[in-house]
Amino acid sequence: MKVTDYIDEHKDRFIDELVELLKIPSVSADPAYKEDVRKMAQATKQSLIDAGADFAEVIETGGHPMVYGEKMVSPDLPTVLVYGHYDVQPPDPIELWNSPPFEPVIKNEKIYARGACDDKGQFYMHVKALEILNASGELPVNLKFMIEGEEEVGSENLEAFLNDNKEKLNADVILVSDTSIIANDTPSLETGLRGLAYMEVEVVGPNRDLHSGVYGGGVANPINVLCDMIASLQDEDGHITIPGFYDKVVDLSEQERKELNAIPFDLDEYKKDLGIDDVRGEKGYTTVERTGIRPTLDVNGIWGGYIGEGAKTVLPSKANAKISMRLVPNQSSDEISELFQTHFENIAPDSVTVTVTPHHGGEPVVTPTNTEAYKSASTAMEMAFGKKPIPTRGGGSIPIISLFEQVLGLKTVLMGFGLDSDAIHSPNEHYGIFNYLKGIETITYFHQEYSKK
Ligand code: BES
Ligand code: MN
Ligand code: MN
Repeated sequence: MKVTDYIDEHKDRFIDELVELLKIPSVSADPAYKEDVRKMAQATKQSLIDAGADFAEVIETGGHPMVYGEKMVSPDLPTVLVYGHYDVQPPDPIELWNSPPFEPVIKNEKIYARGACDDKGQFYMHVKALEILNASGELPVNLKFMIEGEEEVGSENLEAFLNDNKEKLNADVILVSDTSIIANDTPSLETGLRGLAYMEVEVVGPNRDLHSGVYGGGVANPINVLCDMIASLQDEDGHITIPGFYDKVVDLSEQERKELNAIPFDLDEYKKDLGIDDVRGEKGYTTVERTGIRPTLDVNGIWGGYIGEGAKTVLPSKANAKISMRLVPNQSSDEISELFQTHFENIAPDSVTVTVTPHHGGEPVVTPTNTEAYKSASTAMEMAFGKKPIPTRGGGSIPIISLFEQVLGLKTVLMGFGLDSDAIHSPNEHYGIFNYLKGIETITYFHQEYSKK
């Protein structure tokens, strides 16, 4: 049986099935969607059974449930553990969607819906690869699936799950599709992800909101102070000023930097796509380096004072911000959170009180390129795309990957098929039909190749 023939014959159904899953609003961050998250877990479990898994189950955790399933063929064959997530980001701002986020629409060969690419479209490719291998009657590997419902909120119950289920999750390698390729005619494999430290800060001044005429000029305005403090966290060259922030950063060799910058990247296209006249970032590094191998600090949200209609003269009592830092090898999320906290408290003027609260974080990872699994992924991509994939470094974070190594002692292959332009986490998220079907094909080849090793 030819893999591409099977996909051709069944592609309409493959698309319809994904569309059905995309209708379930499994937003993990918002408790209002708790039941939908459960519904999605059930649907995921059922999809594994329908694709031919020996069994699948919804497992309770301290938070949203985990879906586990497996198809064991023989103890003599290698075992691949597939990881993905069935939860999605909140759809806000909803008014910027061209069609409702949970009513999938197919337009210009793309499926538009929240989760289309991140990660329902991508984890479901693995379910369809299982179906194909099953139908071919020759499953070349043992397959295990672990599809979680809390990735977008920091995978907080996953470490315990891994620790409690080491035996069950025993495998030779972990395969994840939750990252991007460079372009549809330029396949690539991400060989690293950044870590994350995420902080919330509150700056409190006077004990109540004040009249900005009566008190203004005499009392610290927490919003002004917060802006000053945030501005001071980066210097003119885009370096982060937190003492010790760069101490553990591993610098790449000139050779590694050269290779990294050799990937196809068009700065003019990049600017045009984003509607910006210029880029900005750390001095001495290219855009590819800034977004892949260098740490960053960004304000994700900032609020305080009067934001309603018209003008209200007020000197607010407090101001808040959410600030994230992307980390690179060897930085540690906990260490950086602590450095941030100490520094932010230190730079606060006496006229205000500052509180820093760390949120979930995650460690950076580098995945090896000299393993049999990586080589299988590379061969599989070459078979499907007709071109050898280029190794790249991804700027996003998947905190669980470092835990796989720590707790299970397993290496990961990041074989994602999204495009950076798929608008994940944004309005009008989409996933190309080409990417979806190519992904299914590539994953099927991966298992066949890996079993030969
Ligand atoms: N799939 C993304 C991560 C990603 C996207 C990696 C594109 C590489 C390329 C994942 O679902 C995600 O959004 N992760 C979060 C971290 C999490 C703790 C909320 C992120 O990177 O912000
Ligand atoms: Mn994801
Ligand atoms: Mn995501």
